[in-house]
Amino acid sequence: MMATPKYQAWPVITDADKQAVMAVLERGVLSGPLSPEVTALEREFADYLGVKYCLATNSGTAALHMALAALEIKPGDEVVVPAFTFVATAMAVLQQGATPIFADIELESFGLDPESFERAITPKTKAVIPVHLHGMPCDIEKINQIAKAHNISVIEDACQAPGATCQDQKVGTFGKLAAFSLQSSKNLACGEGGLLVTNDESCYKRAAQFRMFGENIEMGDKNAYDPKRPLDLKRSYDSVGIGYMYRMQELSAALARSQLKRLDDWNANGQRNAQILNEGLKDLPGWIAPKELDGRKSVYHKYRVQVSERDAVMAKLQEAGLEAVQWQTKILPAQTVFKNMGYSQDVYPNAQELIDKSFCLFSHTHPVWAQSVELCEHYVDVIRAAGQTCDSKSACA
Ligand SMILES: Cc1ncc(COP(=O)(O)O)c(C=O)c1O
Repeated sequence: MMATPKYQAWPVITDADKQAVMAVLERGVLSGPLSPEVTALEREFADYLGVKYCLATNSGTAALHMALAALEIKPGDEVVVPAFTFVATAMAVLQQGATPIFADIELESFGLDPESFERAITPKTKAVIPVHLHGMPCDIEKINQIAKAHNISVIEDACQAPGATCQDQKVGTFGKLAAFSLQSSKNLACGEGGLLVTNDESCYKRAAQFRMFGENIEMGDKNAYDPKRPLDLKRSYDSVGIGYMYRMQELSAALARSQLKRLDDWNANGQRNAQILNEGLKDLPGWIAPKELDGRKSVYHKYRVQVSERDAVMAKLQEAGLEAVQWQTKILPAQTVFKNMGYSQDVYPNAQELIDKSFCLFSHTHPVWAQSVELCEHYVDVIRAAGQTCDSKSACA
């Protein structure tokens, strides 16, 4: 077997990225409520998605929290979230003092199962947070229909899915609000950061206030940001509600703007690599490759395969020098924080099956969309060769 071709680390930083960041340092404006890089990023990302409003934040979790606050979710309210996702989806609900209610997922899309969502609805349900996990759009159209019938607001957790589409419409534009993450492992990365988007003006205003100490910056700082005037000249310093400090800083915004220019190219690379892997794994006994369902296009934030003897298969691939990672090790209700709150762990069979019988090829550090054709073909060769040395039942034990 040939040696493993080189892995490409993520994020890829170009000369243009470095110049964009240096320009901020030369300008000397590093922060501020209406600072130039942040406001430009907000405009550019809103245009990229085709939405009216965008607020840059210091994390995807902050964007989720702001979305819940914008909907005026309060203690006693219930918010439905999938049992398999990154913990931040449910943690943001706790941060807002509300109650996360877990529902099961679909094995094919990794996203919230619409029927399980509908069963979880009670008179207290005020919102649902479907997640486009691993860049794969969930069944957002059906989830929207159910939510509408029950007068429930939809917040899309699109943290792993910038650029993914459903019927040619970008995810993040289906719900009332949506959150994206710009943390370094994401397809659009700036270190730490997030973006909240919406078409709803009042949600946008409430979220903006929540982002900055509960201040309504339009009251005191309505005029365009002027780097030459003192930052605190016109600020009202009048908090009208509870707020946090969730603003993004200028260096991160400059890097994100520069990276946004290449997002579609990287996503296309991910699509190409996924096709190579899908094709190579499609008739391999015992393996289920990720599948894009009816009109949905993934950006392959992760390439997750389902295979019965997961631990043995992973060990074999790792022995052969291939990166193979599990990512989440427990469904959310089984994580200690939720277990201690009394959540039951036994009623999410699909989420549990995915935890027990799947893993991801490549890693956070070297994600699938950044890799070469040669490396993806090498994965296929190694996996197929390993498959020949063991049958599908015993896998590679
Ligand atoms: C599905 C999902 N939701 C929310 C988040 C939170 O984003 P951040 O880490 O930027 O707060 C992440 C990030 O890892 C995520 O993967």
